[in-house]
Amino acid sequence: MGWRQLYNRKLLSKKEAALKIASNSRVVLGHAAGTPVDVIDAMVDNKEKFKNVEIVHMLSLGEGKYMNEDMEPHFRHNAIFVGGNSRKAIKEGRADYTPCFFYEVPRLFKEENFKVDVAIVQLSKPDNHGYCSFGVSCDYTKPATEAADIVIAEVNDKMPRVMGENFIHISDIDYIVETSNELYELPAPNIGDVEKKIGENCAKLIDDGSTLQLGIGAIPDAVLMSLGEKKDLGVHTEMFSDGVLELIEKGVINGKAKTLHKNKMISTFLMGSKKLYEFIDNNPSVELYPVDYVNHPCTIMKNDKMISINSCIQVDLMGQVVSESIGLNQFSGVGGQVDYVRGSSMAREGKSIIAIPSTASKGRISRIVPFITEGSAVTTSRNDVHYIVTEYGIANLRGKTLKERAKALINIAHPDFRKELEVEYNKRFK
Ligand code: COA
Repeated sequence: MGWRQLYNRKLLSKKEAALKIASNSRVVLGHAAGTPVDVIDAMVDNKEKFKNVEIVHMLSLGEGKYMNEDMEPHFRHNAIFVGGNSRKAIKEGRADYTPCFFYEVPRLFKEENFKVDVAIVQLSKPDNHGYCSFGVSCDYTKPATEAADIVIAEVNDKMPRVMGENFIHISDIDYIVETSNELYELPAPNIGDVEKKIGENCAKLIDDGSTLQLGIGAIPDAVLMSLGEKKDLGVHTEMFSDGVLELIEKGVINGKAKTLHKNKMISTFLMGSKKLYEFIDNNPSVELYPVDYVNHPCTIMKNDKMISINSCIQVDLMGQVVSESIGLNQFSGVGGQVDYVRGSSMAREGKSIIAIPSTASKGRISRIVPFITEGSAVTTSRNDVHYIVTEYGIANLRGKTLKERAKALINIAHPDFRKELEVEYNKRFK
């Protein structure tokens, strides 16, 4: 049977598709801007038909109504990353958190105790050969479809067709719901003086010909703003956003010096504005691959001069980096931070940078602290950490003693907090 016939046979309404999900099953949702929309709405609208359905995802950009209080007997969320829409449910104990490096999530889906019953994903329209692109989210979304017993796809005519190992054939999908939804967009970050200074300090560590990993938000964009005079930069990253577009237009990012996937921008998901989504559509210079390839430290390390830039909540005087929790409160997740810290450290001439404003909560709290808050999880260990950058400077912790580390970190702390950090330093080391 031709793929067009198959396609037509698999078409269902959103309610019919939702009702294919059995009670007590585990459902994985497509990630980030690829979060499915219509089938989720139908699940929530028909909640009484479902009992104890576990909903698994990392970042999700929808409203996440299945996490509301009245959904409790029907749906329970299991988070591998906590975002804005799941923080409250996690805090109130109505949802769970499972720690896992991003690059290992596809492997988790293959394990006996994490069996995936259903994957619900968003796809682009099929091409002439019957292949749909996963569009903006390849990451664990494609691997979830390979692990699941049932694949439900929202074929969205607004989903860009993005290259790479980022396709699925109609024959590998069980049910199709046609949709026409604008993609979720990321609001532009606010870049203030502090972020600009951090960006300038990070730029001092980035040589011409480097390959970059940058996360989401104001600091990564501020770093990019400081790179206008560099040459031949490349991108190998977990995700990128609009911040790279200007540097591509200027020819600063061209991938010419990359030692892996030369001339290509490699990522595992993408999230930004409509401008970004237009740029990536059918663009052969952008390729998405599953996260167990892109974020694997052994892949990352093949990029000479690999630079990773991530952020954190706290760093203690030994260089232990807390990035995902504030005490026992799970604020986000490990995401790809450690994947890139390790991959960059293993790369020839690689550097991993944790870039932070020196304070949090409008200057009331120092992020550089004598002790991490009780209950917080260490994300990047003191053995893995390399550079810490604030608006006050750069601390290279590699090869430094505990005493030297403490000194280097105090030197880049906010001046208002240096005295109390020195009191602790003197207690420990004198
Ligand atoms: N003590 C108490 N509260 C703190 C704090 C601290 N030391 N540090 C931050 N906070 C609060 C802030 O005040 C802010 O709350 P507010 O919005 O009410 O003011 C909140 O926590 C978020 O802090 P902020 O640093 O502004 O968040 P961010 O959006 O820049 O994200 C991380 C920072 C660390 C949470 C984020 O980078 C992350 O999740 N990292 C781990 C995953 C990762 O690195 N992935 C890899 C690449 S995508």
